Amino acid sequence: IEETYSQYRHYMQKEIFEQPCAIQNTIAGRLQSDFIDLSELGENINILFSKVQHVQIIACGTSYHSAMISRFWLEKLANLPCDIEIASEFRYRELVVRPGSLLITISQSGETADTLAALRLTKNYSGYLGSLTICNTEHSTLVRESDFALITYAGSEISVASTKTFTAQLTLMLILITYIARIRGMEHVIFHQIIRTIEKLPRSIEQILSLEKEIKILANKFIHKKHALFLGRGSLLPIAMEGALKLKETAYIHAEAYAAGELKHGPLALINDDIPVIVIVANDYLINKVKSNIEEVHARGGKLYIFAEQNTGFIQCKNINITLLPKTEPIIAPIIYAVPMQMLAYYIAVVKGNNVDQPRHLAKSVTVE
Ligand code: G6P
Repeated sequence: IEETYSQYRHYMQKEIFEQPCAIQNTIAGRLQSDFIDLSELGENINILFSKVQHVQIIACGTSYHSAMISRFWLEKLANLPCDIEIASEFRYRELVVRPGSLLITISQSGETADTLAALRLTKNYSGYLGSLTICNTEHSTLVRESDFALITYAGSEISVASTKTFTAQLTLMLILITYIARIRGMEHVIFHQIIRTIEKLPRSIEQILSLEKEIKILANKFIHKKHALFLGRGSLLPIAMEGALKLKETAYIHAEAYAAGELKHGPLALINDDIPVIVIVANDYLINKVKSNIEEVHARGGKLYIFAEQNTGFIQCKNINITLLPKTEPIIAPIIYAVPMQMLAYYIAVVKGNNVDQPRHLAKSVTVE
């Protein structure tokens, strides 16, 4: 997986481009032609999963955005209620543990102080069925202290801003949730369709990476911007949030992400031609809703940068820039659409001359509170 660094300018660029391989490594051995193999979790895992009535996911930073998307999948595919929370908040609340709750932590490093403290806190409560971590670092404290662990084999990530470990986390969560869903009665046909869809991920991400030139050109339009607004709905709202986080971390541009349906409750007042509005659109059941949100921005003179799937009917015109993305199954759209957001932030940071891999004031692993 460790491609030679010399062909890239920064680790962040290298890690963005390693994503097809990182995902392939995460899938390998787990996705079989007609079943999912999670025997690494031990032989009693199916009994545990069949008892699960609720999932509590805890994470920080980019890993928290994985948690948000996982909630959509847990509800949609496994019909399981799920709560997600940022570890630094969770650890200071009086917990009310739901019956049959499985605790899942998500972390690249496995050493984030707040996530570890949250895990340790749950051990004081008897209600949890068990704890499982999705982690990229096999020999980490989080892996050691959790009952179960699934490792994302994304390889080491050097750049402070997470990229390949995010899409690997999402891939692994989708595999896990599909596995749990099958135990809980997901139809065979749907189960197979999802396996086929996950298998296509590395190839789909390769296609997205070929947008590099286009996104590089687009990045020049952002260098003098002080603010940006990211909009998304459904499972792409967390991708809007991830896009905004990447832009803050690496390009030092104040960026906010909003649920597009919430525009009229405040952010519309901000719209002018100096704040780029980035919208991420999938071809799913929410497309017409997003289109009317886009119209709300356009009608007020906003400058839109739309990332949308081909054949969704968007037309480039004054104040509307379209970046066309390859056709994708809606279930994996968040994994694939994360990549153009990473590339956009990366190239803006590069043209601004920022220290991309080591952004000011930030650390790769936050091991103190
Ligand atoms: C830091 C890193 C982020 C990361 C977050 C959570 O803020 O800069 O990239 O998402 O910690 O880290 P973890 O290792 O727990 O995923």
